[in-house]
Amino acid sequence: EKGGYDYFMLKEIAEQPKAVADTLLGRIDASGLLTLDEVRIPASVLREVDKVVIVACGTAYHAGMIAKLAIEHWTRIPCETELASEFRYRDPILDQRTLVIAISQSGETMDTLMALRHAREQGARVLAVCNTNGSTIPRESDAVLYTHAGPEVAVASTKAFLTQLVACYLVALYLGQVRGTKWGDEIETVIRELSDIAAAVDRVLETMEPVRALARSLADKDTVLFLGRHVGYPVALEGALKLKELAYMHAEGFAAGELKHGPIALIEEDLPVVVVVPSPRGRSVLHDKIVSNIQEIRARGARTIVIAEEGDDAVVPYADHLIRIPATPTLLQPLVATVPLQVFACELATARGNEVDQPRNLAKSVTVE
Ligand code: F6R
Repeated sequence: EKGGYDYFMLKEIAEQPKAVADTLLGRIDASGLLTLDEVRIPASVLREVDKVVIVACGTAYHAGMIAKLAIEHWTRIPCETELASEFRYRDPILDQRTLVIAISQSGETMDTLMALRHAREQGARVLAVCNTNGSTIPRESDAVLYTHAGPEVAVASTKAFLTQLVACYLVALYLGQVRGTKWGDEIETVIRELSDIAAAVDRVLETMEPVRALARSLADKDTVLFLGRHVGYPVALEGALKLKELAYMHAEGFAAGELKHGPIALIEEDLPVVVVVPSPRGRSVLHDKIVSNIQEIRARGARTIVIAEEGDDAVVPYADHLIRIPATPTLLQPLVATVPLQVFACELATARGNEVDQPRNLAKSVTVE
């Protein structure tokens, strides 16, 4: 049942191009418009939404952090993303015009379920983004957009994460489409580019051997840091989470702009630091700032592991290890940038003799608060 792979996680990493394609299937029509009628929230209601709140845990929360950037950019509706376990304990401000999005692979996560129940009690509408048909979270929501990752068996989430991103992009673009925004042309372009993204993920998977070799060479390290900005920041957090749960290493993700406010004190000789570099074409200011960050940490002895778009030459002089990813629209980059981090964590876990599919102390679905 592992399809020839040693671990479910490896199989599930390899299934990501298909999972992404399946989650797009039937949701883009021949004229390049999104058709999300299945969500069954009338366009008139979506036009009235004045705030979006995303609740989720762990990896799904990282997808939610990226979704926030996409929703705010393409719809101009204020959006916040909150850890489901924190949400209802702070008396959040919700009403009939709030759209709450609950993201959950299993559909059974108790923290997320309690958050959505609280939201509905306050009159908010809840849309579930979920991978498990008929599970509790979609049953208790007003609407659901299913991710089509197929069953995810490994405890560490991989293909579910990529499909959560795809589903969230679809929601963001659909909201933009229904409401009409100044980004109409960009929305059309991005919908087209989404159709190519499965092939891009496939290309990343074909180039992972150096990443595996690098991971093995770091098996006796204690700490790995991850830096990113904008959509690269949640990717950094996700890379660190994967490493904690699988390799049992100390791993921290930081927003690169925060370096000088504290974390740079951690940099020491030969400390591996993974840096997710934004596209030089999109937000080029951010790109240039990250390149300076890489210079700064390298000057202090860090071993820099740089994930950068193909053709981005500015990073070359400062990268001890360079991992190339295909060029994508800025907001879609996490779909390709996360994959090397999954492979990295999986290989490090194997090199350290850990049980990849069943990390210690963790359960696949967390049904207690
Ligand atoms: C990390 C991981 C967890 C889950 C989290 C939420 O690899 O798998 O962090 O993402 O427990 O689970 P779901 O998505 O089922 O609500």
